[in-house]
Amino acid sequence: MSDSEMHACSRRMTRAFRFTHAPYKVMLSLPIYLDNHATTPVDPRVLEAMLPYFTQKFGNAGSTSHSFGHEAKAAVDQSRELIAASIGCSSREIVFTSGATESNNLALRGVAERSRRRGNHIISVTTEHKAVLDPLRRLARKGLDVTLLPVEQAGSASAGLLKMEQVEQAIRSDTLLVSVMLANNEVGILQDISAISACCKAKGVIFHCDATQAVGKVPVDVHTLGVDLMSFTAHKIYGPKGVGALYVRRGSPGVRLEPLIDGGGQEGGLRSGTLNVPGIVGFAKALELCLAEMPAEGSRLSELRQRLWDGLKKEVPDVALNGPDWSKSPRLPGNLNCAFPFVDGEALLMNMKDVAVSSGSACTSANPEPSHVLRALGLSEDLTRASLRFGLGRFTTAEEIDFAITATAATVHRLRKLSSMASE
Ligand SMILES: Cc1ncc(COP(=O)(O)O)c(C=O)c1O
Repeated sequence: MSDSEMHACSRRMTRAFRFTHAPYKVMLSLPIYLDNHATTPVDPRVLEAMLPYFTQKFGNAGSTSHSFGHEAKAAVDQSRELIAASIGCSSREIVFTSGATESNNLALRGVAERSRRRGNHIISVTTEHKAVLDPLRRLARKGLDVTLLPVEQAGSASAGLLKMEQVEQAIRSDTLLVSVMLANNEVGILQDISAISACCKAKGVIFHCDATQAVGKVPVDVHTLGVDLMSFTAHKIYGPKGVGALYVRRGSPGVRLEPLIDGGGQEGGLRSGTLNVPGIVGFAKALELCLAEMPAEGSRLSELRQRLWDGLKKEVPDVALNGPDWSKSPRLPGNLNCAFPFVDGEALLMNMKDVAVSSGSACTSANPEPSHVLRALGLSEDLTRASLRFGLGRFTTAEEIDFAITATAATVHRLRKLSSMASE
């Protein structure tokens, strides 16, 4: 499949738009997708690898009495090997789940329930994803002591980073587990996981890392990072939704977990349930492609992100970067998060009709909340609401970036004009 076919195939063809902003004269299909931290389209090469496992090769990987089962199990084994090799572990250390939410729950609740007698304290960070914070909240309701550490505040070169001294000081004799994400899903900050895990290891504390936004985008090796448990998922890396994995370190002693789901005893009894064979095959293919293309994709996305940021700074007075400057602190290449002062945040997002971005806020239908990550960085509630997260991905083009700059600037100017008229 050629690049242009791949691109066409993986984009929603809704409305065509002739973008004539010099020097481009191209057709864009609208809305353009710049929310690749939320999810990514399945790469057509991944879909191609998965398709036979829905129809001809549909066996249950747990069926041992016939060739349909053997064929499915062989595909799972091969995918498990590939996924394990891509993060530097053994295939026996991979537990397939339904996604990173389940992996995080299994890690946190699994350790807490298994090792309750050894300790009663867990440490994490205020800027973690809800898939870590909510299971911790549940554990706290059951009597576990949870410490959430703060991060460096906005304005500092290391905004969003955890201070090592704080981790060291927070670990107590009854601390069971520390959980820190590798890449933040809103501001793309990369934490110094090796240093944090070394501190945990020295004190005999289990270390879990939510690497959902990092795997496939930056090099991830469980031994270099020094993690005991690590969560990741397929749908952030151009794989299918509904499949993820938890790395569980084996050895003497390995990490012991209490399962969340009981049943047929699949995945060494840690995650019962019929394996999602097409999903697992797609997960492995997606990871294989990400690793092969990582250097080129990383620099292409960094260049596009710079183009977007330069364009926004030129077109929108007072736009402010949320999170650290990437020339000073490591940050995911496809991430840009910025605040647009003097606009109403809700109106901003509602008016971004042709550019699919996120406000960085976790919304439930009944309760739109401002982003807890930006608030934890010290942003005011107004600025938090007036912030946009742009997530660039494999299929993002320079023309789309230029369109996003023009569309965002036009929206911000219109809203600022409206609010100045309202206050006159
Ligand atoms: C950092 C992080 N952790 C966990 C998750 C949840 O992943 P999944 O959708 O696979 O359950 C996400 C998804 O948004 C994420 O960004």
